[in-house]
Amino acid sequence: MSLHSRLLGTGSYLPERILDNQELSRMVDTSDEWIVARTGIHRRHLAAAGQGSVDMAYRAAREALAMAAVPASALDLIVVATTTPDQIFPSTACLVQARLGNRGAAAFDVQAVCTGFIYALATADHFIRSRAARTALVIGVETMSRIIDWTDRSTCILFGDGAGAVVLRADQEAGILSTHLHADGSFADLLQVPVGQGHLQMQGNPVFRMAVRTLGEIVQETLAANHMTARDLDWLVPHQANIRIIQATAEKLGMPMERVVTTVADHGNVSAASVPLALDHAARLGSFQRGQTLLLEAFGGGFTWGSALLRWTEE
Ligand code: COA
Repeated sequence: MSLHSRLLGTGSYLPERILDNQELSRMVDTSDEWIVARTGIHRRHLAAAGQGSVDMAYRAAREALAMAAVPASALDLIVVATTTPDQIFPSTACLVQARLGNRGAAAFDVQAVCTGFIYALATADHFIRSRAARTALVIGVETMSRIIDWTDRSTCILFGDGAGAVVLRADQEAGILSTHLHADGSFADLLQVPVGQGHLQMQGNPVFRMAVRTLGEIVQETLAANHMTARDLDWLVPHQANIRIIQATAEKLGMPMERVVTTVADHGNVSAASVPLALDHAARLGSFQRGQTLLLEAFGGGFTWGSALLRWTEE
């Protein structure tokens, strides 16, 4: 009997403090019109002083566990995707595990920048399908505000803070149909925190072009692997970096924007947390129906890119 990962619950957390484009335009030489036209972003959430990735991840995890009706003690795997851990070690996963009161589950972080959640989800899915784990918590969390140069108008307008989480359990019903991961480290210097510096640097235009091309390819790879066409997809749940990148991918798939989950206007780019935040947002609105097919995709620093095809199994 083959086993699959079934998605039992989702959760998310956004910090209270909202920084809108008007306020940003008083900090750097930019405008609401420019930011909205080039990115689709209106506002983003920022962690409070003293609040970090562990705190946000814990809150998202609690919500996901509650929806799944799974006690933290039942988890045997915790994978956290983050580029912005509060500490170099212990891992965010271990610190969240302690806050949740779980003891003994395998717990570790993965680092694939904006593709991090897809990498973490794929990792947990492989653990479950190979019977190395039965019940997994997968979290994407970022405190991007800590690595942003707030005087650089070309990057500080883009990012926000937050966390999203899912609970997976081994089941005969899928769940996760397939996952696809890729990277090409030769592009490292286009999007990075350089050695010895604490701030993100990006060459926005080449990153934009590469993201559009690569995401177009990975959605086709995912469909081909599942012998599907774009008509078999009910929802696209993309990484939320820029509405123009999202629209370009949807257009290549021939998907109307009503079938695309977009949270970029309110969240900005929350890196590894973007996809699970969007997923939880739409799940709690009741957007997904049992049996529907969801394509999750992301692109990020590294470069890294990846996708996951899901069947929604909850009522
Ligand atoms: N406000 C006003 N003007 C700005 C600005 C801002 N916040 N940021 C940059 N500009 C200016 C630039 O200085 C440039 O001026 P110039 O023509 O006088 O030199 C002009 O706007 C165009 O800059 P450019 O970088 O070519 O704009 P763009 O259309 O590529 O948009 C991004 C910039 C960052 C919005 C876009 O490149 C992008 O979204 N890239 C991908 C980012 C991304 O997704 N990263 C994460 C991947 S996970």
